[in-house]
Amino acid sequence: MRRAVCPGSFDPVTNGHLDIIGRSSRLFDEVIVAVLVNESKRGLFSIEERLDMLREVAKPFENVRIEAFQGLLVDFCQAQHASVVVKGLRAVSDFDYELQMAQMNVGLAGVETLFMPTNPQHSYLSSSLVKDVAKWGGDITPHVPEVVARRLSDRFRQDGR
Ligand code: PNS
Repeated sequence: MRRAVCPGSFDPVTNGHLDIIGRSSRLFDEVIVAVLVNESKRGLFSIEERLDMLREVAKPFENVRIEAFQGLLVDFCQAQHASVVVKGLRAVSDFDYELQMAQMNVGLAGVETLFMPTNPQHSYLSSSLVKDVAKWGGDITPHVPEVVARRLSDRFRQDGR
């Protein structure tokens, strides 16, 4: 079985992530979306909330599974019997850091990384930008799935930001 991992923070998932997840699901038998549990960096959404949103938006893709992971990505990949990581590349600015991680991961455990160019429609999109725009009341509906837009507006309303 050809199994790939799409890792990230997904705080929250955007249409850019979803595009990469959907396209990967057509290339592999199974795709595992792996949400990093990073105890030193508290996100806007809890890991459970991120997993919930991802599970909701990835429903149309039958061969996509959503999991959380802690520690090294290569250890997670090995435990899941996945030898490939898929990462979206938005622009050249992403490349330096992504290349370093890809080279480290292949050196650590022989886990390969495939870079997938993002759809140009989403090339400027990031979870951080979406959160900032949502925080100040800007329209993020073109950039995130409906369930995410709703959660963002609820979260910022609750926080009174
Ligand atoms: O969405 P992000 O925050 O850009 O995702 C980064 C992620 C989760 C892919 C990266 O931080 C990662 O793989 N972290 C797990 C720890 C690890 O394996 N570190 C060594 C990378 S070479």
